[in-house]
Amino acid sequence: MKENNPIDQIIEKISLVDFIGRYIPVKKTGKNYMAVCPFHNDRGPSLSISDEKGLFHCFGCGKSGNVITFLMEYENIPFKEALEKLAREAGVALRDRPKNEARDRLYRLNEDAADFFFDTLMTSDEARQARLYLKERKVSRNVIEAFRLGYAPASGNPLCRKLKEKGAAMEELDKLFLAREGKNGPYDLFRDRIMFPICEPGGNVIAFGGRALQKEQQPKYLNSGETPLFKKSQTLYGLHLTRREIFASRSAVVVEGYMDLLALYQYGIKNVVAVLGTAFTRGHAELLTNRVDDITLFFDNDEAGQRATIRSLEQLFNTGINTWVVVNSLEKDPDDTVKMRGKGFIDKLIKNSVPGFDFYVDYFTAGVDLDNPEQKAGVYKKLKEDFTRLTDEERRSFFLQALDVRFGRKIGASLEKRGKRRKKATFKGDFRKDEVLFLLYFLEKKDFSVKLAELQEDWEYFITDRRIFEALERAGEALSQGEIIHGRGKYEHFVEDPLLINEMTTLIFREAFIPDEEMFERFYHNVIQTIKMEKKKEEILEKELE
Ligand code: UTP
Ligand code: MN
Repeated sequence: MKENNPIDQIIEKISLVDFIGRYIPVKKTGKNYMAVCPFHNDRGPSLSISDEKGLFHCFGCGKSGNVITFLMEYENIPFKEALEKLAREAGVALRDRPKNEARDRLYRLNEDAADFFFDTLMTSDEARQARLYLKERKVSRNVIEAFRLGYAPASGNPLCRKLKEKGAAMEELDKLFLAREGKNGPYDLFRDRIMFPICEPGGNVIAFGGRALQKEQQPKYLNSGETPLFKKSQTLYGLHLTRREIFASRSAVVVEGYMDLLALYQYGIKNVVAVLGTAFTRGHAELLTNRVDDITLFFDNDEAGQRATIRSLEQLFNTGINTWVVVNSLEKDPDDTVKMRGKGFIDKLIKNSVPGFDFYVDYFTAGVDLDNPEQKAGVYKKLKEDFTRLTDEERRSFFLQALDVRFGRKIGASLEKRGKRRKKATFKGDFRKDEVLFLLYFLEKKDFSVKLAELQEDWEYFITDRRIFEALERAGEALSQGEIIHGRGKYEHFVEDPLLINEMTTLIFREAFIPDEEMFERFYHNVIQTIKMEKKKEEILEKELE
């Protein structure tokens, strides 16, 4: 009798129902089993599983296949990786598999290197500084172990010697960016650094990043160059440990740095990946294709971070993924913010993130005087050209429409805008922009606060947010007591909620809020109008109730 090939053996030995059941809930219906399909936005259950045949089929999206295809699709891994994983599980030998021995050796050596760095960090005397450093930065033991952080010693070439003992050739170490042949013999490339193994989605180590321990050591982060195993623009740090959460929530938070990722992960925000000092590219998006609907960019709070956000958006606008941008003007990066303020705060920041479109338009219109027709036309033209280049037809048309609305080019646009204004501030989440502005004006200048204080009886018709209202009341009280309430840095006296402070500083720095008389006059006029309108609405409502 002819022996089955390994693929058939795997399909035969692994129960497809049990296997899928590990990932998603499965229900028995008659002879077959059903599940909510993980490959499309299923209200289902539309995924039918036949254990007998070892096949699944989705009546919703049409996907079908066996246990190998399921794993490939679900984990987003290549055929070979899925096959190897399942073969191991089923205890099937993949004898005849065409093998790339040279490549396998490189993988093996990276694993050995990661082990060496990890052991050194955990046990050696010379890693005492490194352990202390991680402790100071509050990296937990769990995270160190999960991400296999390590330490590369400062002197000699211990890694090189270790790997040579294991049969590595100098050429291989060179290729892997681990060691080089120097004038005085071989030397290790990573020295006196905290090591971050970089893995492919399946978990194999393909490269390393190493953070300098000493301030004067350059560069701060040394990363493996491109190797046969590693392409920077197609690798997302952390994905091998976070893809479960990412795929389950169909959303990912993208940060810039290794430490940002570890911090968010440690604090319980697990659907996160880090780009390695680049923007988010199409190559990155491919790793998540069909598996996420939303990407939230949470980059550093500096010029470089903003530029990387813009470049990432340019790529993402062409992928069909919805984009959001976290605006955080409090600390310099997610690592600092989560450690300073905890998970709840990050959750709120993410909830308050602005649509990528708005961030993009704001970025290029910041500092542009939109009352100056030439400047306005200039920035409009630039944005229009950008959006015209989008490849997705629907997106292009919606973006161009939205752009016209933003620039007041749609007939009736300004009318429509005014009607919706109170519901549709730029901020996606908690705060309405005009309410934050109200508070800002109040705290910026005495003339403004006096005028706004005259309306105190009617504040409630304009301010709907409790936090803003309370801050205003505190400031109003202080003002009536004759206290000086103005001047930078005074905000914190009256505003308790750091999220609100964040929104205020965002308006000041990112949108260049200027407390000038003319702007205030216009704003004040709008406030009066809104209050009148709201009062009238209330009157009508009351009449109806009578
Ligand atoms: P940052 O300079 O913002 O570092 O670089 P960080 O992530 O906040 O790190 P800590 O908190 O100072 O330890 C962000 C990312 O850019 C890449 C790294 O991936 C880093 O995590 N980078 C930075 C480099 O590749 N090389 C460098 O020299 C600096
Ligand atoms: Mn940092």
